[in-house]
Amino acid sequence: MHNDTDTHWWRTGAFYQVYIRSFADGNGDGTGDIAGLRSRLDHLEQLSIDAIWINPWFPSPLNDGGYDVAHYRDINPAYGTIEEAQLLIDEAAQRNIRVMVDLVPNHTSSEHRWFKEALASDPGSPARERYIFRDGRGVDGDEPPNNWQSVFGGSTWTRVEDGQWYLHLFDPTQPDLNWSNPAVEREFHDILRFWLDMGAAGFRVDVAHGLAKDPELPDIVRAESEAFRTERLDHPHWDRDEVHEIIRGWRSVLDEYEGSVMVAEAWVANWDRLARYLRPDEFHQVFAFEFLEAEWNAEAMRQAIQNSLDGAHSVGSVPTWVLSNHDVVRHPTRYALPNDVASKPWLLDGDRSVLNEDAGFRRARAATLLGLALPGSVYMYQGEELGLPEVHDLSEDVLDDPVWRQSGGTEKGRDGCRVPLPWSSEGPSYGFGSNGSWLPQPDGWGAFAADVQLGDPDSTLELYKAALALRSERLAGDETMEWVPSQPGVLTFRRAGGFTCVINLSRDSIALPDGNVLLASGSLDGGLLPPDTSVWID
Ligand code: GLC
Repeated sequence: MHNDTDTHWWRTGAFYQVYIRSFADGNGDGTGDIAGLRSRLDHLEQLSIDAIWINPWFPSPLNDGGYDVAHYRDINPAYGTIEEAQLLIDEAAQRNIRVMVDLVPNHTSSEHRWFKEALASDPGSPARERYIFRDGRGVDGDEPPNNWQSVFGGSTWTRVEDGQWYLHLFDPTQPDLNWSNPAVEREFHDILRFWLDMGAAGFRVDVAHGLAKDPELPDIVRAESEAFRTERLDHPHWDRDEVHEIIRGWRSVLDEYEGSVMVAEAWVANWDRLARYLRPDEFHQVFAFEFLEAEWNAEAMRQAIQNSLDGAHSVGSVPTWVLSNHDVVRHPTRYALPNDVASKPWLLDGDRSVLNEDAGFRRARAATLLGLALPGSVYMYQGEELGLPEVHDLSEDVLDDPVWRQSGGTEKGRDGCRVPLPWSSEGPSYGFGSNGSWLPQPDGWGAFAADVQLGDPDSTLELYKAALALRSERLAGDETMEWVPSQPGVLTFRRAGGFTCVINLSRDSIALPDGNVLLASGSLDGGLLPPDTSVWID
């Protein structure tokens, strides 16, 4: 548990991500809500977490699960009211749980008042200047202003009635804001203050690396749209240096609120670039996605860990470990696939026979003990404490993710990790609510239910509870670790006070080091540590 006088609580904090739409449904309409979340605070408290991050809960047409915000200072009526949000923040605080809000600054919803004003105003007007409107190319301006491709598929440009085009890096209903307009910056500083004044602990910041655009809006010459992830390119809209000025402005607002924190979602080429977001006057945390993406082998894992440690240390910070979130295939399923099978294309039409669910489940538990033993902070995604796999067989007619629509059915999208949680082994929606769920839960979902796992010492829920309790008891506040030489395929490191973590990523059982076993991710084979298993030793 954190100490309120400790303004650096977040450096080694444990965070839990609530995808509110799918967490718990309090009013029986099939959609998760604040009432449901408030009714499940016991569950969160048992996990000894320091904070929750709630995915966007603002009024929204939900074209992108709420990342299309129509109003930044209110709550989507489907989720509740601003008064209930206040109650939640206060009740969570009584349990020593802080609440982080999702800030979506790159774009608004097309339903936002500003965008409606922009459409109703003339080209060049102040209302249009809040967004990125341009004339088209070609004889009649009927070609988009440039060749940029949306993250979800198709052009980043949509034409409006008077012939101008507006930019949207994501869905056409998510117009990009113009961050070189001071009015936009002022508005967001005000939004930050609004939630901080309500008692929010801070923000997870969406697409932090996309806010600044090259004012010339040049064509992207490189064909590989993803190349910016692997190489440092001078890209016209990803990871531009101007972004850091914007971030410093937000940080100065947060610094007025002691103990507040902001974490960046920034997909950039390497730690050299990522560390810049983590400088002392910028973000407190950036997700270490390299760890999430590392394949299941010791060298890849070790490298991802070391890069993250070095990168964060280079700016006086610590890494933020994460294995799953609402945008990626859940990690038990990722680890169930052979290393050379990429999970996203596999979801669409991959060979199901290559899936080794038992291995995935074992590895996920082992990876959890690994991540929770590392120095730094950690984010967990709702349902991972239940060992939930990806629901990979959702039928096409229930898919809701704009990725599916915008890609013309060539990418299945992220619905499979967003299926509503099972709370009880039986009942209409396994305890999610009283009346169905907005995405169908698969048969057998009840086997993962929280009530089945609670009290079962072998369950994933009890593993998380025990690990998080031990972590906060033994490791909170300590930021050091030391690798211990070990045989190929095995990673061992020591933390303060003699705490040691060993993970076996090889194919053979290995001898357990001396010491007292505090916790193991699977059953131990006498004095041996089986493959795909990790252990904490004292
Ligand atoms: C981020 C969010 C994702 C959303 C996108 C556009 O990547 O995590 O869910 O679709 O931004 O806002």
